[in-house]
Amino acid sequence: MNATNKKIAALREQIEAHNYRYHVLDDPEIPDAEYDRLLRQLEELEKAHPEFLTKDSPTQKVGGGLQKTFEAVAHSTPMRSLANAFDAEQVEAFDKRMREALDMEESKEEIEYVAEVKLDGLAVSLRFENGWLARAATRGDGSRGENITHNMRRVLAGATFLRGDAPAVLEVRGEVFMSRENFAKLNESQRERDKKVFVNPRNAAAGSLRQLDPNITAARPLELCCYALGEVEAGDSAKNPPPPTHWETLRWLAAFGLPVSDFTRKVAGARGCLAYYEEMLAKRDELPFDIDGVVYKVSRLDWQRETGHTAKAPRWALAHKLPAQEKITKVESIEVQVGRTGAITPVARLEKVFVGGVNVSNVTLHNRDEIARLDVRVGDSVVVRRAGDVIPQILSVALKDRKKGARKFVFPKNCPVCGANIVQEEEGAIARCSGGLYCDAQRKEHIKHFAGRGAMDIEGLGDKLVEQLVDGGLIRTVADLYALTKEQFAGLERMAEKSAANLLGALEKSKDTTLARFLYALGIPLVGEATAESLAAALRDLEKVADADEETLQKIPDIGPLVARSIISFFNEEHNREVIAALRAAGVHWPRPEKQVQAAAADSPFAGKSVVLTGTLSMPRAEAKKLLQSLGARVSAAVSKATDYVIVGENAGSKATRAEELKIAMLDEGEFLEMAGRKR
Ligand code: IVH
Repeated sequence: MNATNKKIAALREQIEAHNYRYHVLDDPEIPDAEYDRLLRQLEELEKAHPEFLTKDSPTQKVGGGLQKTFEAVAHSTPMRSLANAFDAEQVEAFDKRMREALDMEESKEEIEYVAEVKLDGLAVSLRFENGWLARAATRGDGSRGENITHNMRRVLAGATFLRGDAPAVLEVRGEVFMSRENFAKLNESQRERDKKVFVNPRNAAAGSLRQLDPNITAARPLELCCYALGEVEAGDSAKNPPPPTHWETLRWLAAFGLPVSDFTRKVAGARGCLAYYEEMLAKRDELPFDIDGVVYKVSRLDWQRETGHTAKAPRWALAHKLPAQEKITKVESIEVQVGRTGAITPVARLEKVFVGGVNVSNVTLHNRDEIARLDVRVGDSVVVRRAGDVIPQILSVALKDRKKGARKFVFPKNCPVCGANIVQEEEGAIARCSGGLYCDAQRKEHIKHFAGRGAMDIEGLGDKLVEQLVDGGLIRTVADLYALTKEQFAGLERMAEKSAANLLGALEKSKDTTLARFLYALGIPLVGEATAESLAAALRDLEKVADADEETLQKIPDIGPLVARSIISFFNEEHNREVIAALRAAGVHWPRPEKQVQAAAADSPFAGKSVVLTGTLSMPRAEAKKLLQSLGARVSAAVSKATDYVIVGENAGSKATRAEELKIAMLDEGEFLEMAGRKR
């Protein structure tokens, strides 16, 4: 065996092992992007050395396998995979191949494609006989799958019978998947019951469908989306024959009551395909489910037959992969950070990796429990995920690649900055440095918060400057900021005279503030901007806030017992009262908030209601949210059965569609403002 052949054999073995973990065990070890890379590497080697190509290479067959616990069933027509494209050129080459195969090189006409989302779930084949779900199977190795009929009947629940004039035999192919919202809920409940937590919605869907006990499957929130036909036999009732295009086929399936995607479009040529890709790339994070790409299919079924398929995939379809949201990298170190309120957060420093559109070199490990759950250690290879605006996270550790002697992370007993004891809070998993404002780390974070936007908004007083001021012993409390002189500023690193003067100006300007901003700036644990505003609007005087008892505080919207206790204990601290007095002595002041004229929240039609905002309104989203909250509404991010109203702005997307499906009352901006009593 020469070197190339050896390399090919090794790659095949590696890919087969990953196939087994992914398809049979539902427990992949590497991200999909890494798998695709291995497969491409093998494809290229085989292309350069066709003498080594074999029929059983993973590049030539559907990657999959069967769990022995399920009965194996043969598919009446093979369940194929899809060829992949990773860039625009490959999509253009696909369209060119189709034009050549269909003798359309000279024609001006564009090929009509159906563009679909590529759902990240598990492929299934459903066989309906005389309208009744007679058998359901997973894809398996493409020619045989696992019999999951009982489980699938439970997923379909009431829809195991087709509506209307169904053919004698109708085999439908589709994807079983789990929405992101349901995935999060499932994991939450798994965690609570100390059960296995799934790494992503695909694994959750695959693991939930392939359960020996259909009752477990039934309890899992699985959904189906149909996207292709298998065997069809018209039978006696040929009244409703299958249509001649894929586009119409999807409508035809929907008329039987089968779920199809709302995101499917008819597009023309490569250009239409690429426009759809861009649209979905932009929408990806708003979609209620994970997608790993989009799929283009020649719509005319006679053209599909004409172009045919390889052993592995149809020639008339192409999966265009979206950029990876999961990548592998190495943990260089694990450190702990001390926050403003002393909360200790462990952070993994990573070898820089480009994932989900950004470079990631730090990820939070949240808390002690999370480190224990992942058992992540310095030097480990880890799978990092970054999707949309969600902060990057470590999904799993590749234990196989762990270096010998890698030591378990020991959570420190003392604050790395001030040495004070770290105490574990009884409620929740938070560990805190007990050094309070004597801890320089807490002091710095506290001052940064005080100077920040939404708080005192001291322009030019950035994080680096605060660190220099504290490290140089120039300030100890936020009140000391107002005693700083131009000379002291000018003596700092990289601080010209002009910027020193600007800073003094900004400090002066910040003294003119509002009670709400001041309260927020104090950094009372659990008091965010909205709570500070409620406090200011309700009590109107700092003294009243400082002296309020628990009962008074709890009557204010947004404030529960925990927040009330946190406010009281803040003002009980002599040191805090001293700092406040010093700030006022330095000239910090605010006008008395106006008495609230607005109707009491209890009278509002939004009181106690769950409301979702979607699309663009003429006021900023945050403003609309605040208005609703002031009227007693809960504002949630996702539409569910528990939602009372959906406020629909311009260009609303899937949330509006979902509201329609669930028949939830929808309000436009005008109706919303009218109900809120804001319409002039
Ligand atoms: S069509 C004959 N359409 O992707 C063509 N597949 O990588 C068969 N998938 O096994 C597949 N969304 O599990 C098709 N809109 C879609 C899809 C889709 C997701 C999955 C399916 C398939 C895999 C191929």
